[in-house]
Amino acid sequence: MTTKFPIEKFKSLPTPFYYYDIELLQQTLRKVASTLSAHPLWRMHYAIKANANPRLLNIISGMGMGADCVSGWEIDAAVKAGFKPESIVYAGVGKSDAEIISALNHNIGCFNVESEAELSVLNELAGSLGKKANVALRVNPDVGAHTHSNITTGLAENKFGINKEQLEDTIRLTFTLPNVTFCGLHFHIGSQILDMTDFIALCNRINELSTQLQRKGLPVGDINVGGGLGVDYEYPDRFPFADFDAYFDTIGRHLLLHPGQQLHFELGRSLVAPCGSLITRVLYVKEGIHKQFAIVDGSMTELIRPALYHAFHRIQNISSSEPLERYDVVGPVCESSDVFGKAIDLPRCQRGDFIAIRTAGAYGETMASQYNCRPLPKAYYSSEI
Ligand code: LLP
Repeated sequence: MTTKFPIEKFKSLPTPFYYYDIELLQQTLRKVASTLSAHPLWRMHYAIKANANPRLLNIISGMGMGADCVSGWEIDAAVKAGFKPESIVYAGVGKSDAEIISALNHNIGCFNVESEAELSVLNELAGSLGKKANVALRVNPDVGAHTHSNITTGLAENKFGINKEQLEDTIRLTFTLPNVTFCGLHFHIGSQILDMTDFIALCNRINELSTQLQRKGLPVGDINVGGGLGVDYEYPDRFPFADFDAYFDTIGRHLLLHPGQQLHFELGRSLVAPCGSLITRVLYVKEGIHKQFAIVDGSMTELIRPALYHAFHRIQNISSSEPLERYDVVGPVCESSDVFGKAIDLPRCQRGDFIAIRTAGAYGETMASQYNCRPLPKAYYSSEI
């Protein structure tokens, strides 16, 4: 499955913009749905933070998936896009009162609670509305992941979750609070994880905890393993799908579940990253002393990942089949970090050529900003263009 770019159609569109390959998205979702259909107790909650474009959300909710939200606004977006409120889980270390009240009024499926302080506030607010909130406790499993330090979340030093040492007391606390119902445990160790041994380590840690708690007469309820499955940023056309088989197989084999125990997933990136590209035009080719720059009209305000994490995205000149030359591909924003890639070999670039920055469907459009008063990016879809 290779994304084909309708270059003739692009010619009438102002750049930069996001282009979504809807067929690729649908094929990805069908792959995941077919695995889930074989496991009646497995539930997928798409992590809205990866991409909240309403068109994509509609397609994902249409596949019967739930949603993983981290703000009241994400919950609103999810409900608007057709996700069933009871399939929504809500995480976040800093949920405001207004967000909690809104989530309670939507009757969402579960709050992934990150501290005792939050638990008490949730209990109080639920009581004031005459409601009972389902709660999963987010555990900090103290499991590292082989990924960028800015996107690991499961270490004791991270702000996320309740430490293992405090978990037993927090579970007991839930039983004393009249307006919350303890439903299970939630975990998430990080993002862009390609090494399955990280997920094995997570499963082992969950099994260990479950056994300890069980011995103390505290059954853990359902398990939510979070998200984190990575994608291939190097070769978007050769590997357009994340390795869902390895991922589900790893979790299925290593996590010990009791009969009737539900298993929840919160994948984001792996569902949407490959289907999105940022399309930008070459404005100028500038000769430096030791290098040349392809200055494009897209920037870190549309796609911040290279500037923020030194993330690699495949860059392609989709207009030219001239011989290769070497460029630093940079945007117009007044920051030295506004660079999409350094020393990139591309077919010779000319003013007006379209440059596709690939695998940008996750944490691209959602992380866009208006720095330099730039407008937020538009999006076009393969199914409509
Ligand atoms: N569940 C929780 C609790 C999370 O914090 C995250 C992502 C996910 C699920 C979804 O993870 P995924 O399957 O997408 O890896 N902006 C960064 C990534 C931040 C991830 C934050 N949490 C990036 O561009 O790489």
